[in-house]
Amino acid sequence: MTSPAPEWWRTAVIYQIYPRSFADASGDGIGDLGGITAHLDDLAELGVDAIWLSPFYVSPQKDAGYDVADFTDVDPLFGTLDDFDAMVDKAHALGLRVIVDIVPNHSSDQHAWFQAALAAPEGSAERARYIFRDGKGEHGELPPNNWDSVFGGPAWTRTTNPDGTPGQWYLHLFDSSQPDFDWSNEDVLNEFDRVLRFWLDRGADGFRVDVAHGLIKADGLPDFSYDDDTNSMGGVEGPTAPYWAQEGVHEIWRRWRRVIDEYDGDRILAAEAWVVPLSRMAKWVRPDEMHQAFNFGYLETPWKADALRTIIDESIDEFGKVGAPSTWVLSNHDVVRHASRLALTAENPQGHGIGPLSKGLPDPVVGLQRARAASTLMLALPGSAYVYQGEELGLPEAIDIPDDARQDPTWFRTEGERYGRDGCRVPLPWRADAPAYGFSGTGEAWLPQPVQWAEYARDAQRSDDSSTLRTYQRALHLRRELGLATHTLEWITDAPAGVVAFRSGDIEVYSVVDADAAMTLPDGEVLLASSEITDTIPADTTVWLRR
Ligand code: NOJ
Repeated sequence: MTSPAPEWWRTAVIYQIYPRSFADASGDGIGDLGGITAHLDDLAELGVDAIWLSPFYVSPQKDAGYDVADFTDVDPLFGTLDDFDAMVDKAHALGLRVIVDIVPNHSSDQHAWFQAALAAPEGSAERARYIFRDGKGEHGELPPNNWDSVFGGPAWTRTTNPDGTPGQWYLHLFDSSQPDFDWSNEDVLNEFDRVLRFWLDRGADGFRVDVAHGLIKADGLPDFSYDDDTNSMGGVEGPTAPYWAQEGVHEIWRRWRRVIDEYDGDRILAAEAWVVPLSRMAKWVRPDEMHQAFNFGYLETPWKADALRTIIDESIDEFGKVGAPSTWVLSNHDVVRHASRLALTAENPQGHGIGPLSKGLPDPVVGLQRARAASTLMLALPGSAYVYQGEELGLPEAIDIPDDARQDPTWFRTEGERYGRDGCRVPLPWRADAPAYGFSGTGEAWLPQPVQWAEYARDAQRSDDSSTLRTYQRALHLRRELGLATHTLEWITDAPAGVVAFRSGDIEVYSVVDADAAMTLPDGEVLLASSEITDTIPADTTVWLRR
């Protein structure tokens, strides 16, 4: 009897495409599905196993597509459903799986359901799909509770009745253009079953589930003592917040798992759940819930050897206890790119971003060296890893975006106090000598690209053996060939304390993390070095050795 094929997602490298910024085939300055299809060969050549696409659904784009007005159609900005089908066909032909984003916590305020809710009376079935409440105060002029929006400001907006009088308030944990659904409502549950099936029927291999810790709110929507929330993580309130990580979310994921399991082909659910500690996050990936959860604990870990060893152990242990693989991630479209973040010298809570006036701005050379070391460390770990578009080019955060070009709702809702996430979303450079560095044929780009980006362009890096791109490519191919993600990690305990060192099969990995920890290169065949080495491995460098 042959043993069943291993589940691909336990070891996969999943490449995040942020469609607006990946490649623009239409020339309007916003990336699209045609642009993705045209570059899938590059991703297959890079050596990833799957792609995950951030939202490309019909949306007024108030939160770059995370404000969805129609969950089962493509926004004309990005193309058509036929373009989606063509992209999936090509990806599958290249052996790449396709994961799409699903955004169940909220819709756009332009969604037909929300428009119907606004037009319907208080207490109606239309309003019951969202969270409408009367305001406090004599005339209902105060929000129903004290919750803050993740993007700054209150989490409630007051409506205006059809006759022009002030009406009820609705809850939005994010922008006011993103009203939260009420997940105790059967219509909502049924609608999302339909949405899941729609994309599964069209060939999607799974879903990245947006705000998977947020759908259920505590009964009675109680006020929250923000000051007592000692467990907050990355600027996001911790587990005591009455709108995060409520037990009721797990019933939803069990329901979704049953839908996914109706389909063949090992399809998956991956949770975006900002939950601490990892033992709690692991609940999202119990055997009858999701398959993977983004390991934000790892992403948030400082570049320090002790801290890295601890989070790696904790991740393997906690996810392992529920039979799930650990995932590893360093960058995405919501955080400062790790080629900058790892060299910041001042606190920068997640979501705040960096801009010209931020404190502790990074040294780009140190940042890139660390990013390469961190990525090659990550890609040697057991489990599944996520790569965010552009990190394979070593892209730093774009810092000098002019104020009037910024688009993140965080920037507007905090009146410029937080820069937000535009700096990690700048369109990719493909060709050093082309307009918009080859992002679009017309030279248009929805966020300005820094002038230094010619040197990061993919074509320039492809022919340079020491480039970040080639280093990623080698790491990804070796990882696959050597089965690195499938082995059990064994710490090498006689390495210097500032070095993260472990064995995986017959490969040894040495990451010199702490500044004073440079070490003599051990004997063996060097398979990969994140930067130049001699007979010494300098700080901020990772080496893979066969001994
Ligand atoms: C998490 C997404 O990653 C982020 O980009 C978005 O703004 C919020 N969820 C709201 O959907």
